[in-house]
Amino acid sequence: MARDGQGLEVSNANAAAIAALDFLTAEWLAFGNRLAEFIAIADKEESCALLPVMAANLVLSMNSAEGQEAARRYLARAQALAKGGEEANDRESAWLAATAAWLAGETDRSLAIHEAMAADWPRDLLAGKLGQLHAFNRGDSEALLRIGERLFAANQDNRYVHAMYAFGLEECNRIDEAEAAARQALAIDRRDPWAHHAIAHCLEARGKMLEGVAFLQSMTDTWESCNSFMYTHNWWHLALFLIDLDRTDEALGLYDRRVWGVWKEFCEDQINAVSLLARLELRGVDVGERWADVALYLKPRLHEHFSPFLDLQYLYGLARAGEHSAVTEMLASLEERAENARAFEREAWADCAVPAAHGLAAYAKGDFAEAARLLGQAMPHLQPIGGSIAQRALFGAIHLDALMKSGWNDAALAILQADDRERPTVPWTKRSLGDLYRRVGRTEQALAAEYQAEQLARHYGQHGNGGKPT
Ligand SMILES: [Fe+2]
Repeated sequence: MARDGQGLEVSNANAAAIAALDFLTAEWLAFGNRLAEFIAIADKEESCALLPVMAANLVLSMNSAEGQEAARRYLARAQALAKGGEEANDRESAWLAATAAWLAGETDRSLAIHEAMAADWPRDLLAGKLGQLHAFNRGDSEALLRIGERLFAANQDNRYVHAMYAFGLEECNRIDEAEAAARQALAIDRRDPWAHHAIAHCLEARGKMLEGVAFLQSMTDTWESCNSFMYTHNWWHLALFLIDLDRTDEALGLYDRRVWGVWKEFCEDQINAVSLLARLELRGVDVGERWADVALYLKPRLHEHFSPFLDLQYLYGLARAGEHSAVTEMLASLEERAENARAFEREAWADCAVPAAHGLAAYAKGDFAEAARLLGQAMPHLQPIGGSIAQRALFGAIHLDALMKSGWNDAALAILQADDRERPTVPWTKRSLGDLYRRVGRTEQALAAEYQAEQLARHYGQHGNGGKPT
């Protein structure tokens, strides 16, 4: 039986099929922009089932109705091919089962199968990559790390496993180890956008904004061959650092030039755009007419419900664009989705997404007290909706703003104090603390917080070299 570049047996595969699988592995791990070339090869494949299986997973990761439809066709073809020629081996059967589970919306089962595959065939890097994606989509940081550990232990010859391991560590708040693992990847080859991404998360978690800007800017030349998700997302991370440095003009410039406009139909590009505009508005930036353009691409998504994490951002984008009837329609559809949720996903849809969606809609129309109440109800259930810690922080930031705007001073103060303990380098947090202390009559603390905010801003001004990092 033929073997791929990882030494894994592949049924009914000629040299071209093996080359295609090896190409896909390299391209997927590098977040390359040539994945369509693999799809074109898979479309013509007439014997090896793994090719259409992989194509099905690729299109499913698009989180779109067209992707679902295409995946159904690829999976049916893979199942037919698996019945002819050499019998599918256990690994291939696991791939078929995991893909069928994903297509059926049973993502608890697809994650479980992928986790078992990482144990049984840790050399199957794509199975691990998909497993980590399922873990990420469920907010299961421990599974994300467990899979990363398995891959890391069994693939010391592969440079990409360092960053896969690093991201699992970071999402489990093991920041020092995460950064060390990601830097190990770069010591082998600096062209690893997932390692850049893991380091961005580590620096963001520690509030090291200047370092984050300098580091990411030094790597941007390597992102030109990235797919739109990785390209726009790493630029999005750079924009987050700039926002926390009070350099919001530059962040808005990145939105226009790098974050929005690469592939406007793609869910990942859309949520990067929504999240960046929302964060800029939270810092008082007027984003002009930008919501309207994003909303054009969100409107077809009202009834999709691939993930609560995606849905909440779609809904907020529509709400900020003033698409009231679309928001009403999506809220009703979301409630129905939550009512029909399977047991494993009930917390994410019913306990988080429904109140959070109503809270975001209330916030967008200026009903801050109602937003604070509903978002407060959703916050304890946030992690299972999926996404990363940094991405989910958007909802916490909107909740905090709603608390401040509706005068829930004690609750806002507790959140801001915790934020400030975690990331004591952000001038905006200290300024907000100053405002709140003044409101609750603590003048001395207000003056101290304002002084610290000024010192930080001055520090960044010096080190910022007139707005640009040294
Ligand atoms: Fe990220």
